[in-house]
Order: sequence, then structure tokens, then C-alpha cells
Amino acid sequence: MAEETILDEAIARIEDEALRQRIAREVELLRGSRRFGLVFDRHLPESVRLADHPIRKGVRVGLRDESSPETWRVVGFTDSGRQVAVLSGEGGERPVSELVVVREFGEPVFPGLVSADRLPHDADDAPWHTVINGENFHVLQALRSTHRGKVDLIYIDPPYNTGNDDWIYNDRHVDASDRAKSSKWLSFLERRLIIARDLLKPSGVFIAAIGDDEHHRLRMLLDQVFGAENFIMNVTWQGGGSALARHHAGGADYMLIYGRNAELVPRFLDPKPYVPEMLRLVDETLAAGATAEEAQERLREFIKANSKDMPEGVTRFNNVDANGIIFETADLTNRLPRPNLRYPVTDPDTGRVYDPPENGWTVKRELMEEWVQAGLIAFGKRPRKKKSLRDYAYNMPVPTFYHSRNTANAHLERVLGEKRFPFPKDHEVLMRWLRMACPPDGLILDFFGGSGTTTEAVLRLNDEDGGTRQSILVTNNELGAKQAKALRKAGHHPGDPEWESMGVFEYVTRPRITTVVTGKRPDGSVYSDGLAANVEFLKLTYLDPGMVRRGREFEAIAPLLWLEGGARGERIAQEPEDGWALTEYYGILFSVDAMAAFAAAVSDAAQVDRAPRVVFVITDSPTEFQAAAERLPAGVDAVRLYESYLANYTINVLGSAR
Ligand SMILES: C[S@@+](CC[C@H](N)C(=O)[O-])C[C@H]1O[C@@H](n2cnc3c(N)ncnc32)[C@H](O)[C@@H]1O
Repeated sequence: MAEETILDEAIARIEDEALRQRIAREVELLRGSRRFGLVFDRHLPESVRLADHPIRKGVRVGLRDESSPETWRVVGFTDSGRQVAVLSGEGGERPVSELVVVREFGEPVFPGLVSADRLPHDADDAPWHTVINGENFHVLQALRSTHRGKVDLIYIDPPYNTGNDDWIYNDRHVDASDRAKSSKWLSFLERRLIIARDLLKPSGVFIAAIGDDEHHRLRMLLDQVFGAENFIMNVTWQGGGSALARHHAGGADYMLIYGRNAELVPRFLDPKPYVPEMLRLVDETLAAGATAEEAQERLREFIKANSKDMPEGVTRFNNVDANGIIFETADLTNRLPRPNLRYPVTDPDTGRVYDPPENGWTVKRELMEEWVQAGLIAFGKRPRKKKSLRDYAYNMPVPTFYHSRNTANAHLERVLGEKRFPFPKDHEVLMRWLRMACPPDGLILDFFGGSGTTTEAVLRLNDEDGGTRQSILVTNNELGAKQAKALRKAGHHPGDPEWESMGVFEYVTRPRITTVVTGKRPDGSVYSDGLAANVEFLKLTYLDPGMVRRGREFEAIAPLLWLEGGARGERIAQEPEDGWALTEYYGILFSVDAMAAFAAAVSDAAQVDRAPRVVFVITDSPTEFQAAAERLPAGVDAVRLYESYLANYTINVLGSAR
């Protein structure tokens, strides 16, 4: 306020009245636009390079070798074979082979997906995990059509902007010498986060890994995007040596956690009651010099005093061992039988069903199920694990934890058979957070996927606890700055096979996930027995509407519709002659003339509890769509698609068609 008074005073002393009024108005405008929070220069949005698009008259082009950021329009060609283009402005004449089509932000682009590989390694009806090779900004825009409000957990590990972490903005590596490095990074992330937020369910959780360099700015940006009231916690991961630790020993990594609506995130807000107090009580008693027996005594007194309010699962942890670990003794056979508790229990590993003993089980069904899920029940001859209170409380978030970072490097090296990627995240740490932040049948998205740690964590967690989580991982196929320089020197450019085969998707993510699922490494050696999972690798493509016939258009968007249908079961890959198609999960009415047959087929499926979750009706007419939607059984979502398929998925412009 003092500053404003001084300024006001100074303005009042300006004698020229017109000038005084003008400056006063400008100051008012500035005051109005000033806000408390993160203020940064928003940089020009990124352009898109469309390597496969033909160079035609009128298109904007740039240099294929990226040696200059300039772009020009093609105004014509010098020859009838169109080998040399005449460019606008200072562009001069250039061989077409040196050029690539560029779309600036605001110029429509049409995305499609093509399958790069499929690993059917689970039951036919098990959900598919997808790994998408593409620019995440565009994939997110496409997902905004297919997954708005459907994602349970978004986890991202963006470039940390350390100045030497090889991240790219508008085709250029941003390094420590770039004075706009933070504002470019913020512009880059903000654009993506705004879309990501829309993809979350109301109860969805967002987690971003981040380092010291941008932690404070990212938190403010996230406050702006998600609302400060939706901040859940800042987790510090102590992991030993880090390149970021310049002035102290050992480095930390952080995770910033937000809820789309923090009040609707029960798993985080409701840690197991009394557990923190019990842990603290024992720690403090032992720290004061007491023996384990004495600590146990105090713990039991605490439990006795509070047992009325404590859940039964927690009261069982009434033992303290010589290491200060709190553990439970509850042995089912030692408990008094309650004859009325009669229900079968299924071993999640073997599927074998155990009938209750003569006198019934000792615990209620819900608690038994919790114990089975937590691996506390010994089925058959398996030795029963002794569970500590900390393990039991695993889904209570802790704000700091220690976990060495070296294990993740060693793990990835073991999977791939050689070192191919620096600093992957730790899949075990991720599994812990996935367990906490996502329901066991939830959908998880990572759009800075890198080596694919998130996918591996989801696959392993499902394998461990029988969950049916599904994951979508997005990464580009970029190369590190050094490697890109070497390849460029050897005459290679993005789009060349030599270049593309060394990118992170091709060289790391895809072979990693393939090895984890099949158990075989890229060199054919055996890594493991593999895991049950269906995984599809997809590549984002950009369609040239002038070049594609209608049938081809459908082929390119078919994977998007399958994704929207839940990425399960078979894919409708072509337009059938009778005008409609239906799988167990989604349906498409291509021609409204086939409406009666289609509606009957959907109703038949609904009769046997197999109604598709969504059906697409392709028509430009809102009335026809309405008529079709009304004939569908209740509970089936109907989505209208324009007949020109590409119009449904126009991206690179503000908002999008759907
Ligand atoms: C810090 S790494 C993530 C590492 C990952 N968590 C792991 O454990 O391997 C960030 C990754 O995001 C990818 N990336 C960066 N910018 C991208 C973009 N615009 N679109 C898609 N992927 C991008 C990079 O290729 C890089 O591998």
C-alpha cells in the first residue's frame, strides 16, 4: 500500500494534465492485472513438425535439420517435378528434401493413432494398458475427447529443468544458459496441466515429481491450476546422492500432490486412525531409554484406553519386538470361534475357495477380506507373514521417506540387459503411491512417461494384489542433446530410422515393457517368467485431411474410439457393410439407416448384462442423433461423431471439437 501512495503522490505532481491522467490510467490497469502468485512470461506456444506431410503450395515449412527456428510459406516451385520450393520472405529457394511442414499453434492438426505393437499376454477380456509414442500436448488434447473426467490418478515426472537435463521446447534443447529457462518451462507445463486437470475424475489425484530447481515455482503453478485448496501434501524423498545437491550432502526429490477436489480424496484424508499415535508412542518410549517390554506395556495401555473407538484391525497390533517394531500376533487359530461367521474365503493366488471351519471364522467378513488383500492370511502351507504396524498402515501417506535411488538404475539395467536410460524413477516407490492414491480398478495416466516406470509399477501392483488398474503412458521418442548432436553430425535427422531407433520410446520404453511382460529381453535372453498383462504400443500420427480418403480416416481414429470404450476387447477397425458394429465394450452406428438393427443388438446385449459402456453415432444431424440415443437402453452413453471423422479430433487450436 505504501508503494501505491508514493506512486500516487508522484503522479499527482505531474503538471501536464493529459500526461498525468494517462499515466494514472496505465497504473490503474497495471494494478488491476497484478495478482499475488506466480507471474511469468507466457512464451509462444509450441509449433508442430509434421514430418510425413507432403510439401505443397501454401503450407508453412521449416528446416528438417532444425538448424534454424525460422518458418516460411511455400509460394511455389521452380520446377514441374516440385523438387525445389520457392519460400516467402527471406526463405529463398530450397530443395524440398530439406524442408518439413510446420503448423503453428492455432492452425488445426488432426491426430490419429496407429498400432506399433501389441502384447496380448492376459485374458481376452482383461483391460489393455497403452503406451503412446507422441508429443504429450497433442496426446492430451486427443484424450480430452476420450477421457474427460475419467482418470483416477495422474502421475508425472517432467524434466526438472536443471539446465542439463536435456528437455526440449519448440524443437530446441533448453540449457542453463537460456535466461528464459524457467518461464519457458512454466509455459510448457501450464499448457499441459490445464488439459490434464480436465481428465481427472472429481475424486482424482495428481502427483508431480520434481527437484529443487523448480519445486517452488511448480507448487505455485499447481496452486493456480488446481486451486490452493486442493493441495494435499508435499512429499520429500530422501534418496542419497543427487546431482541437485550442490551445497549439502545428499539430495531430495519431491512429490507435489493435489486433488482435483481434495475433499473428495478419501484415501489420502483418512489414514488408518490411531496408527500415527501408536507409532509415535513406541518411538518416544524407546528413545527415552525404555525396554521393548516397557514400550509394549505402554502401547497396550494406550490400546485399552482407546479400544472402543479403534478399528479391530488396529487393536491387533499390540506387540513390540526387540527392534521396536510393532506387530500383531493375531493367529486365527488362537481366537475364539464365533459360530455365526460363516462364509467362504478365496485364496487370491490360487483361486482356491476355503469353506469355514465347523465353528465358523473368528472375524467379520470385511476384516477377513482386508487381511486377505493385505497378504496376512496363510492359505495352505504358506508360512504366514508377520506384519508390522507400519506395513499395515501402508496406505497412510507419509511426508518424508528414504529410499535409495540407485536401485532403480540397477533394476532398469537388469531388465534391458544394459544401461540405456539415466535416472528412471523407482517402480517400487511408485507402487506404494499408486496403492495409496488409486483404487484397485482405477485408471492411471503418466504423460511424461520416459522409460515406462509407471507402466511397470501398475503391472507389478496388479500382479501382486490382483487389481485391475489400467494405465496410459505417453512419452515422446526424443534423444538426449549429446546423442542428437552426434547423429546430426553423421547426417541424420528426426524422422530418419537411424534417429528414431535411438529415441527413448523405441530404445527404452518399448523394450522395457516388452521384457517385463514377456520375460524375454531384446537380445532374446530370459529375464523372468513374465507377467499377465495386455499392452498395446501406439504411435501418434498427424493426418493430412487433403490426403486421406474417408476409410483411411476411420482407421486412424479407430484406436481413439476403442480407448474411449475402455481399451478392452477387440477393436472395431473398419466400417462394416451393414452400417454398425458392436463389441462387449462399445458400439458404432456408422449409418443411421441401420439404427433399428443396432439398437436391437445393444438391447440384446443389455438383457444379458453385457451392455456396451458407450456407443458412437456417426451423423451430422442432431435430430438423427437424438432419435438414435432414445432407442438405446438406459445407462448406455451415446456420443455423436461428425461424419468427417477428423473434425471430431481437431487439435492445436484453443478448445477442441468435442
Ligand atoms: C524425467 S523423464 C521421466 C522419467 C520416468 N519417470 C522414468 O522413470 O523413466 C521425462 C520424460 O518425458 C519425455 N518428454 C519430455 N517432453 C515431452 C513431450 N513434450 N511429450 C512427450 N514426452 C515428453 C522425455 O522423453 C523424458 O523421457
